Amino acid sequence: MGRNLLCTEELTTQEIEDIILRAQFFQNNKDHLSSTQLYKNKFVTNFFLEPSTRTRFSFEIAEKRLGCEVINFQSNDSSLKKGESLYDTLKTLEAQGIDVAVIRLCEEDMLEYLSKKLSLTIVNAGEGKKEHPTQALLDFYTIKKYFKEIKGLNVAIIGDIAHSRVARSNYNLLKKYGVNFIFGGPKELMVEDFEGTYLPVDDAIKQADVVMMLRIQFERQNNNYISSNEEYNSKYGFTESRLKHLQSHAIILHPAPVNRGVEMDDVIVEHKQSKIFEQTSNGVWIRMAVIEKAIRGN
Ligand code: CP
Repeated sequence: MGRNLLCTEELTTQEIEDIILRAQFFQNNKDHLSSTQLYKNKFVTNFFLEPSTRTRFSFEIAEKRLGCEVINFQSNDSSLKKGESLYDTLKTLEAQGIDVAVIRLCEEDMLEYLSKKLSLTIVNAGEGKKEHPTQALLDFYTIKKYFKEIKGLNVAIIGDIAHSRVARSNYNLLKKYGVNFIFGGPKELMVEDFEGTYLPVDDAIKQADVVMMLRIQFERQNNNYISSNEEYNSKYGFTESRLKHLQSHAIILHPAPVNRGVEMDDVIVEHKQSKIFEQTSNGVWIRMAVIEKAIRGN
């Protein structure tokens, strides 16, 4: 019986540790595992109803590295266009023998509903502003490469927290490990139920061991709290002039895509303490571990 992955809240610390260890194994053995046929008879569909570059490609690479049969669902050419429901579409794929569906969509709570009605295994690849669990897992994997002790780390999450599924998944995961949360960005874009300290961006960067910058999710909001990209950059962005506040041991993360010159200046994206492209690479190993768990269960 496979294991759905819908959110980080539902994962036990044991399951998180197992995923991290397995991802490390896949990374360490990438050269001689590249042609594994381990999951040759398992069919996985990447079912993306929202745009994606990193997540979709890294899932496909991960699935192919595991030897799975991979089918990328093309929503524009599907019977969704004729009005078939999401449930009937996935029920159809299940009947045809799909074992795992990696799904990205904008509707919230749909994945939980589908997971109760379908027997194929569901992996959340980004659900509205609710959760993006594999992003949080790869962020955690990246953080663990730089910090032996996670408890007590100061993690500053800066930007559009209210519309960010990455922020919520990270919050739910890192809370289990006792980090101190610092939040920064426009006050209107903070989330009331997150426990932590709200600070001006300069102070948030000063105190952080991990600076997690977020993109403004223009596609998920109607309110316009920011009059221009330039204003956002100067008030809340990680600008070159704010680099002086960064501690020498701190790391900079961003789930990407980055709005260069808005939440982050070019020089910060490319800075030696920025681990943005390392996060992207780590996504492959984490998603191998997640797909394996989705196929095999616990
Ligand atoms: N970080 C992330 O989810 O990127 P994509 O939207 O490109 O998949």
